[in-house]
Amino acid sequence: MLAVYASKIDPKDPLSGLEVGDRPDPEVPDRWTTVTVKAASLNHHDLWSLRGVGLGEDKLPMILGCDAAGLDEDGNEVVVHAVISSDSWRGDETFDPRRSLLSERYQGALAEKVAVPRTNVLPKPPELSFEQAACLPTAYLTAYKMLFEKSGVQPGATILVQGCGGGVATAAIVLGRAAGYRMWATSRSEAKRERALKLGADQVFASGARLPERVDVVLETVGQATWSHSVRSLKPGGRIVISGATSGDAPPAELTRVFFTQLTVTGSTMGSRDELGRLTRFCEQTGARPLIDRVLPMAQARDGFAAMVTGDLFGKVVFTL
Ligand SMILES: NC(=O)c1ccc[n+]([C@@H]2O[C@H](COP(=O)([O-])OP(=O)(O)OC[C@H]3O[C@@H](n4cnc5c(N)ncnc54)[C@H](OP(=O)(O)O)[C@@H]3O)[C@@H](O)[C@H]2O)c1
Repeated sequence: MLAVYASKIDPKDPLSGLEVGDRPDPEVPDRWTTVTVKAASLNHHDLWSLRGVGLGEDKLPMILGCDAAGLDEDGNEVVVHAVISSDSWRGDETFDPRRSLLSERYQGALAEKVAVPRTNVLPKPPELSFEQAACLPTAYLTAYKMLFEKSGVQPGATILVQGCGGGVATAAIVLGRAAGYRMWATSRSEAKRERALKLGADQVFASGARLPERVDVVLETVGQATWSHSVRSLKPGGRIVISGATSGDAPPAELTRVFFTQLTVTGSTMGSRDELGRLTRFCEQTGARPLIDRVLPMAQARDGFAAMVTGDLFGKVVFTL
């Protein structure tokens, strides 16, 4: 089958290990099933994998990709939950210490077929296209949990999104706006700031710029480059919710400001199967739809990866079959 896979690890030149070509169909253990992929989306996780973060040489070749929407074995339209918990685990899968994401231990979703535990398959809402549904399992689920489980603030509060062009960041603007939060956003790029306004951000700022007032919550995925600004942008008692550190994870901790203004720093990772179900319903009920930067045939996946490496994206890259 056609697949997008990692053949080698290179932290400095991740695209050198990227292959688009033929791979065997995935193995289907007991209690697993196969989904025929119609659309799959790219995440920064796929670049981390090519850099060797979360993916060891001993696992190669590994089909990349966490997110897919397609058809189950009975022809039903489905979306795949990317968090694979151990057989004995019950409850929120993201707390299983032995969990993995598709493409870390088990072959991933950027392929004609993906095998997953049966419990990882959820109905796709008919209102969403396969391309839109394929954006939900990682970026949109992560943003959903950051906003609605971890932020601790109610609609009407002001939430700052750092690095607004990214998959998680655009998801936060779309979902936060639909839920009635006042969404502010930063970007290094003026063009992306303008697009964020059109997407529903209330105000936009250059990365690092002083804000007109301090905010209730900051959603962080950028890390080192924006951390100090995030800490300084919060009201006393405010909260940073962090799910990523694209630019590095060694920023100044800003400890004095953290304790003096009594901030909370909350980590967040992916979301549970139940939260993915609620996210799909949220999209149905509010009309919120994932923002797609571009749709490419899977055979041209390299172009999408290259755009992510240079940061030349606003929203999600989706590959179709
Ligand atoms: N914990 C989890 O479960 C989870 C889930 C999803 C993602 N993540 C992580 O979250 C991060 C974002 O993922 P993604 O898929 O949304 O990635 P993405 O689409 O590639 O977005 C990355 C964004 O980060 C910003 N950025 C990168 N370097 C920057 C810098 N030096 N200064 C300022 N901004 C910078 C850019 O924003 P501008 O160009 O607009 O400035 C860019 O749009 C990744 O590190 C990913 O691994 C974690």
